[in-house]
Amino acid sequence: MINNSIGLLDSGVGGLSVLSELYKIMPNKNYVFFGDTKNVPYGTKTSEEIFNYTKDILNFFVSKNIKTAVFACNTTSAVAYDKLKEYFEDKIKIYPLIQSVAKYATEGLKNNDTIAILATKATINSKKYDEELKKYNPNINVLGIDCTGFVEIVENRLYDNKESIELIKEKLEIAKKNNAKKIVLGCTHYPYLIDIFKNIYNVEYFNPANTIAQIVKQDLNDNFNQKGTLEFYVSKNPNDFILSAKTFFDVKEAKLIEI
Ligand code: DGL
Repeated sequence: MINNSIGLLDSGVGGLSVLSELYKIMPNKNYVFFGDTKNVPYGTKTSEEIFNYTKDILNFFVSKNIKTAVFACNTTSAVAYDKLKEYFEDKIKIYPLIQSVAKYATEGLKNNDTIAILATKATINSKKYDEELKKYNPNINVLGIDCTGFVEIVENRLYDNKESIELIKEKLEIAKKNNAKKIVLGCTHYPYLIDIFKNIYNVEYFNPANTIAQIVKQDLNDNFNQKGTLEFYVSKNPNDFILSAKTFFDVKEAKLIEI
């Protein structure tokens, strides 16, 4: 039987920032979330590793007859989507994050304005944001800032730690020094850190999670009158995942699955 659930994938709790936006506007849908906690962080892995992890998760969704997948992860969208799109063409429709939201991220920017991208090493090195944003405005400056370490702060709930704040300050100062007009939260773990970011540099922040939720909603019909379901799968430490999830989403139960 065809399953009309939406599959969401990420390396860990970050993807819940996307799920929470989707759930807010389409509470009647069924969601299957996969957090690859065994392989987190993705951002420091090779493109080949990221491709293989993502392929396995998509195969897991396909085995459950899921027909729609949302990459709740910038890193997989940046380095693995182009190849995976062909591979899964007839099996599952994929919504990549960066490619889907780029047009909206450039809104309001004038020629020569700088937009800063806070993201993982793999996303920054791929230059995917530069490529996609410049399709909509070739005259903006795209400043990529490698924020390696931010994912660990979120996964391990180290928000109050002195070193965490120092690291965040160091990265945000780069955006400030370059007078960035807008900052993209280019990793789905980062919306958890928005208050800290704003305390250091209070400009406009673009959260791709809100935008991709709207895009998916436009394409899919909601199952009115039917209560949606939520299923969570992780590849390691389900209890830790549930704890870290708290700020984003109330995850009650996560099933452990080896893929
Ligand atoms: N949350 C993911 C992203 O948006 C992956 C972060 C990571 O595991 O390094 O890029």
